[in-house]
Amino acid sequence: MCGIVGYIGSEQAAPILLDGLSKLEYRGYDSAGIAVFDKDKIEVAKAKGRLSVLAEKTDDGKTIHGYMGIGHTRWATHGEPSDENAHPHISNSGRFAVVHNGIIENYIALKKKLVERGFEFISETDTEVIAHLFEYYYKGDIMDAMIRVINRVEGSYALGVLCSDYPDQFIAVRKSSPLIVGLGDGENFIASDVTAILKHTRDIYYLEDNEMVVLRKDGVKIYNKDKEEISKEKFTVDWDVSAAEKGGYEHFMMKEIEEQPKALRDTISPRIKDGRIVLDDISLTTEDIKNINKIYIVACGSAYHVGVVGKYVIEKMCRIPVEVQVASEFRYCDPIIKKNDLVIVISQSGETADTLAALKEAKNHGARILSIVNVVGSAIANASDDVIYTWAGPEIAVATTKAYSTQLAVVYLIAAYMAEKLGMLTSGEYANFIAEIEALPDKVAQILTSKEELQFLASKFFNCRSIFFIGRNLDYAVSLEGSLKLKEISYIHSEAYAAGELKHGTISLIEDGTLVVALATGQELFDKTVSNVKEVKARGAVVMGVTTDTHENMEDVADYVVKIPSAHEMLLPSLTVVPLQLFGYYVASLKGCDIDKPRNLAKSVTVE
Ligand code: G6P
Repeated sequence: MCGIVGYIGSEQAAPILLDGLSKLEYRGYDSAGIAVFDKDKIEVAKAKGRLSVLAEKTDDGKTIHGYMGIGHTRWATHGEPSDENAHPHISNSGRFAVVHNGIIENYIALKKKLVERGFEFISETDTEVIAHLFEYYYKGDIMDAMIRVINRVEGSYALGVLCSDYPDQFIAVRKSSPLIVGLGDGENFIASDVTAILKHTRDIYYLEDNEMVVLRKDGVKIYNKDKEEISKEKFTVDWDVSAAEKGGYEHFMMKEIEEQPKALRDTISPRIKDGRIVLDDISLTTEDIKNINKIYIVACGSAYHVGVVGKYVIEKMCRIPVEVQVASEFRYCDPIIKKNDLVIVISQSGETADTLAALKEAKNHGARILSIVNVVGSAIANASDDVIYTWAGPEIAVATTKAYSTQLAVVYLIAAYMAEKLGMLTSGEYANFIAEIEALPDKVAQILTSKEELQFLASKFFNCRSIFFIGRNLDYAVSLEGSLKLKEISYIHSEAYAAGELKHGTISLIEDGTLVVALATGQELFDKTVSNVKEVKARGAVVMGVTTDTHENMEDVADYVVKIPSAHEMLLPSLTVVPLQLFGYYVASLKGCDIDKPRNLAKSVTVE
């Protein structure tokens, strides 16, 4: 939540900052601002609204001169979106400019003290205390001031700080919020995420908590809280620049939907060698797996929906009990975790505040943590005992698609890996399952060849007021994701229900013309779901059935039928979800919604 970027070099800073921010808008987009050091003072430009408003105000940055600056794109937490609350925040003398991602938890007490000492606040933000604290503690050495500030504030922060006494350097620090340092040739950067600077460099440093960095044009130095310089390993990102560009697509979401076959291949292939699943990434031994009592899966949003699939798959294949919980509940439920319990944490960004807190809670209870993460070096990855990375590449659209799909693939790999170690699969079943996993990318690609069918269905239903998704077992798990995808980007009210549960209340909402999307892909429960389809049809619903090409009688009951290729029953969610992503996308597109940046949302939710 909130994106920050910083630059020092020989180019005009403002256009580079704006370009970097444009890659970080997924983190927040209610206002934006930049501060640039020009000659002897700090110049600031801010604007409520999308980054485009600021770009227009500054002629794409051309009107702001100077070669060093910091920028910010905001997702409001403290104070409404406004010019005043937009970052950077400036100290009263104008000497310091600060951009911040995170939350300063003790800001009210700090603000009170600063006001008593005569500091004037112009915003409602927590961040403004930092700008004034710098001023308060500054005695001529900016590093000393930084150390005093970070010792005083509580909470999470990634900070970029300009000081007008230092025309050739700026400083940054992080704690529990992401910040990377980009190493260029005669220029250096900070950013919340690599995509913002990929155009300029792929060489980066990952910062640990409370490591402070001093950036000059020709070099970067990193210090610990005792002001001792520390050496860091340089990391080279292999992402392509095009990975963070729209590449001719109207929206990142469609680009990312179409990237799913590749993302799946990249995630699956390196982990299958000579017909066996190889999880070099993890240290769980066969003995450890045999001793697992119970598995918790903890995550938020779509990652939680992957967990719901995971529960069905792991319980069925491994016969280990699995409890799946949203992280915001898990962290406060005083979980009963026993020796030999495994906690699987799923997160695209690796920085979701609730998920990270839940992980820490599980660790405090002595659990072993296995995480499934997309962003290398992220807080969740760093805090886990074992990490399996999804190789989805950067995901920019707020509504996740390829990250969800690759997380599912990793869950399948884990389930089959453990099932084999537990002796739950014959060699034939194991080989078949692996072959079926390997076939998924092509089957997803096949579904993507009939996008127009979903576009047509969207054109029929984009005016609906309310849409229901139903299914049983794995189909129910995918219903949750289909419903979320639709509602988050199209703003149509939608609910997902276990098909058998609908009649216990919710069916009263079905009236003439209500759309029910019925997922019935599995063999065993197909007839049961068809009965539920009949129940809603009898009450006036229009039904869009989603099923595999092996089921023929869906046509007899549903008004419209979407077919997906058949596959191993456990793996069907990877295919079922694709038409639902497309349906949500096209409905939102027909409604003229801002698909990549839906209202009120942000992709990385770094607040509670
Ligand atoms: C936000 C995003 C969702 C995502 C969830 C968890 O709400 O909009 O798409 O599933 O956060 O994010 P994570 O990065 O932990 O997977």
